Amino acid sequence: MKSDIVMQDFVEIVEVGPRDGLQNETRKISIKNKIKLIDQLSQCGFKRIETTSFVSPKWVPQMACSEDVLKGINRNKDISYLALTPNMKGLEMAISSGADEVAIFGSASEAFSKANINCTIEESIKRFRPLVKFAQKHSLPVRGYVSCITECPFEGFIKPEKVLEVTSQLFELGCYEVSLGETLGKSSSQQISTLLEKILKDIPVTKVAGHFHDTKKFALENIKVALDFGVRTFDSSVGGLGGCPYAPGASGNVATESLLDMLIDLNYVTGLEREQVNKTALFAKTLVKN
Ligand code: HMG
Ligand code: MG
Repeated sequence: MKSDIVMQDFVEIVEVGPRDGLQNETRKISIKNKIKLIDQLSQCGFKRIETTSFVSPKWVPQMACSEDVLKGINRNKDISYLALTPNMKGLEMAISSGADEVAIFGSASEAFSKANINCTIEESIKRFRPLVKFAQKHSLPVRGYVSCITECPFEGFIKPEKVLEVTSQLFELGCYEVSLGETLGKSSSQQISTLLEKILKDIPVTKVAGHFHDTKKFALENIKVALDFGVRTFDSSVGGLGGCPYAPGASGNVATESLLDMLIDLNYVTGLEREQVNKTALFAKTLVKN
């Protein structure tokens, strides 16, 4: 009974700064500094760090040299080092670079799917199917993302039914968790509440993560709403860096240090070292400072 209470109070922060935080940065960040950032994050207490993405360098130039980054880090055996993989080519590179797990990324918006990964939603699911099978054959867990859970920069309002449909498809493919991407960072807490009420009727809350961008500074409020629904995993970026190159007008993820402060105030256990997180956030900001 006692251990149940402890489990409930634990919130996992998945650090996505080296990937989501840096991917949108136009200035070239050196491989050495990317590795330094991940190595500092490895000392913060995270269980999962999203290190990079194996995507086309023509689409996201900042994520070129992902192999060198992943191969160059000082690994902590207690941490799972993730990488984004949009297709088989990316997966093969992730495997040869030593990723511990991979993430596939779909969307609840047709227009965003086309803009971000150059295919329809249906085509993306078809593309992911062999990828997940191949990853599982190599004992790599696969995480899923669904972008545009409430709004799309091109289509506007997205129906919760569509989010449920795509999320369910990702689980059916074999994802162990799906991270719900509030890509634009503009949703109100009412929109998040409406969405979660709808989808958590069909999906176990323990398999869902929240991924909030913070353009309008609503992310922390929205995370509180998700916590009330029982969500216990959230993605964030140190320093609040980032954004998606294919989501015009959107800014970075909620800052890890702000999320951590809020969770501490709310009495949740995170396993993170606050001082080390703050120190790493300062370093992360120097990488993108004008
Ligand atoms: P495409 O142009 O249709 O692909 O792009 P293609 O198969 O025709 O290949 C085009 C070229 O890219 C070829 O090179 C391929 O070899 C190469 P060329 O022959 O012309 O020299 N290529 C690759 N190179 C390296 N790694 C690969 C790879 N694949 C092809 N994996 C593709 C389709 C999916 C590749 C492209 O659209 C792409 O890379 N998109 C990624 C976009 C992206 O990374 N967006 C940001 C991440 S998603 C996000 O931020 C949202 C999230 O945070 C959640 C949220 O906030 O909502 C996750
Ligand atoms: Mg994102």
